[in-house]
Amino acid sequence: MAANDLVLAMTGASGAPYGVRLLEVLLRAGRTVHLVISPAGAQVIEQELDRRVDLNHFQLTDLLGPQAELSGQVHYHDYRNFFAGIASGSFLTAGMIICPCSGGTVAAIAHGLAQNLIHRAADVHLKEKRKLVIVPREAPLSVVQLRNLTLCAEVGAVVLPASPGFYMKPRSLEDAIDFIVGRVCDQLGVEHDLFKRWSE
Ligand SMILES: Cc1cc2nc3c(=O)[nH]c(=O)nc-3n(C[C@H](O)[C@H](O)[C@H](O)COP(=O)(O)O)c2cc1C
Repeated sequence: MAANDLVLAMTGASGAPYGVRLLEVLLRAGRTVHLVISPAGAQVIEQELDRRVDLNHFQLTDLLGPQAELSGQVHYHDYRNFFAGIASGSFLTAGMIICPCSGGTVAAIAHGLAQNLIHRAADVHLKEKRKLVIVPREAPLSVVQLRNLTLCAEVGAVVLPASPGFYMKPRSLEDAIDFIVGRVCDQLGVEHDLFKRWSE
């Protein structure tokens, strides 16, 4: 356990490429990452990236591929495992990101349902007043979803929608993904060179 560790959860919203890229960037930055994936998150990973992740026998290479450049470390936690350290406020972290974050997970966080480890760890980050960054993706947003996002923001979460800016003139999908991943890193104080900053 170290106060520098980060928690990354991937849930079943569209946007698996953001979550995978974020994991790569955090590891390249030398960070230790506690990773949790929901069953719907695994389905979206398969649909969007053609990568099959078995949540019962998790292999990092299934998610990142064999070529993954790692300098940090990954601790994988099953989404049902409430005995994981990250389920407790006594386990120190530098923050948590849910990327992508489904409307269902936003609702569970907003209403404190804690039905899986992702919800519980988010709850812990909120009660401990630690950074919680959620990256929702839905279009359009219903009033229910807007209210749930507002509730999350009111109790301290950073709501960072997966909506890349175009003022940096992205030339590829990778550039657009890096824009969002870079903005998440900015929230967590993780240094990166994923995009040029305005005025650079
Ligand atoms: C291919 C696919 C794409 C989906 N895209 C979204 C989405 O963009 N946003 C969302 O809130 N839910 C989306 N869903 C629905 C969620 O996966 C579903 O509500 C699920 O129960 C969320 O569970 P989780 O939050 O535990 O991952 C999608 C589901 C699938 C299979």
